[in-house]
Amino acid sequence: MALLNRTYLTVAFQLRQRGIASLAALSETHQMLQKTCRDFADGELKPVAAKIDKEHLYPKEQIKKMGELGLMAIEVPEEYGGTGLDSLAYSIAMEEISRGCASAGVIMSVNNSLYLGSLLKFGSKEQKEKWIPPFTTGEKVGCFALSEPGNGSDAGAASTTAKLDGDSYILNGTKTWITSALESEAGVIFATTDKNLKHKGISAILIPKPIKGLELGKNEDKLGIRGSSTAALMFDNCKVPKENVLGQPGIGFKIAMMGLDSGRIGIAGQALGIAQASLEVAVDYASKRITFGKSLLKHQMIQDKISEMALRLESARLLTWRAAWLKDNKKPYIKEAAMAKLAASETATFNSHQCIQILGGMGYVSDMPAERHYRDARITEIYEGTSEIQKLVIAGNVIKELGFN
Ligand code: CAA
Repeated sequence: MALLNRTYLTVAFQLRQRGIASLAALSETHQMLQKTCRDFADGELKPVAAKIDKEHLYPKEQIKKMGELGLMAIEVPEEYGGTGLDSLAYSIAMEEISRGCASAGVIMSVNNSLYLGSLLKFGSKEQKEKWIPPFTTGEKVGCFALSEPGNGSDAGAASTTAKLDGDSYILNGTKTWITSALESEAGVIFATTDKNLKHKGISAILIPKPIKGLELGKNEDKLGIRGSSTAALMFDNCKVPKENVLGQPGIGFKIAMMGLDSGRIGIAGQALGIAQASLEVAVDYASKRITFGKSLLKHQMIQDKISEMALRLESARLLTWRAAWLKDNKKPYIKEAAMAKLAASETATFNSHQCIQILGGMGYVSDMPAERHYRDARITEIYEGTSEIQKLVIAGNVIKELGFN
C-alpha cells in the first residue's frame, strides 16, 4: 500500500497552487490524495469495517494511521501541525475514507471541521498553539457539543449554562448525541451565559477531557456508524478558566453555524463515500449473478438502477466539490454546503437502498456490506442538520438572493 508522504503532498500542493484546477479534472495533488486515501481504505479500512460495526469498536489504530497520513487536520496550516491542504482535498479524502468505513469518516469529519475548524477560525494565537497541535496526529481527537436533550435542530435554544464566577465559568447542563464523546480529549462546548439573550447569549467554551464535574453518558446503541461513539456530556458545576472562551462571549451561535457550514461539506463527502461503495458492491455482485440465463448486468431493469445511482452520485459529488471550491476561494458557500449535504445524503440513502434491491436476499444479510451501507447512510440525513434544516437554509438564501427578505 502506498502510504501518503505528508511532506511531499504539502510541497506538491504548494507548488501547484495556482488556483484550483477545473472541477472536471482534479489537480495532480488532489488526484494523489484521492488515490492514497482509496488505497488506504481498500487496504486498511474495508477489511475491518464489518468487525468495527458489529462489535462497536472504535478504530483507534486506523485513526492513528489516518493522522500519520495527514488526514486528521487537512486544512490546518503546517505551523500548527496540520497538512495545509484545502477544503476540496478534505471533501475528497472524506469520500474515500468513508467508502472504506463510515465510522472512521465521521470521527475524521468532527475532528477536522467542527473541532479544529472552529479553533482555526476563532481561536487566539495562544488557544491555537495549545488546542490544535495535539489533535492533528490522530493520537487525540476532539468533539463538538451543541445538541441537548431539548434542542437539536433549534440550536439557538441552548439551556446548558456557563456562569461567570471570578476568573472561571461554571458549566451546568447536558449535551447529547456527541460524536467521539467517549474518546475525545477536548471539546468545543456551547453554553448560554444569558438565556434571555437567546442565541446572542451563547458562548463556545474549550474544555479538556477528562475534567472534574463532567460525567459521560452511555455509548448509544446506534443503527449505523457504530464504530464511532455517541454519548451525552453531563456537566455538574464544571469549572473552566475564563480564557477558555473561544473568540469572545456571546458569539457561540455564529461559531457553531460556521463550523457546521464546513462540517456539511465533510458529511456530504462521507455520504458520497457510502453511495460510491454501494454502487461498487451492486455492480460487482450483479456481474457475478446469473438470472434467467444471463448476467444480472445484462438486465435492463438493473441497468436502470445502476444509471440512476451513478447519475445521482456524480451530481451530488459536483455539488460537494463546488461548495468546497467556493470555500477555498473565499466566496459565500452556506447555501451550496447545504445543497451538497442534502443531495449527497439522499444519494447515500438511495444508492444503499438500490444496492440491497440488486443483491436481493444477499443484500439483507451481514455477509455482504450492503446492509451496513444502508444503516450507515441513514444518519447522513440527520446529523449536522437534518435534510429539513438544509432545505430551510437553501430556501432562506435563495429568497435573499432574489431580493425578497
Ligand atoms: N453563518 C454565520 N452566521 C449565521 C449562519 C451561518 N451559517 N446562520 C445563521 N447565522 C446567524 C444569523 O445571521 C443571525 O445573526 P444575527 O443575530 O446577528 O442577525 C443568527 O445567526 C441567528 O440566525 P437565524 O435567526 O437564522 O437562526 P435560527 O435560530 O432560526 O436557526 C438554523 C437557524 C439554520 C435552523 C440553525 O439553528 C441550524 O443550523 N440548526 C441545525 C443545527 C445542527 O446542524 N445541529 C447539528 C449538531 S452537531 C452534529 O451533528 C455533529 C455530529 O455529531 C456529527
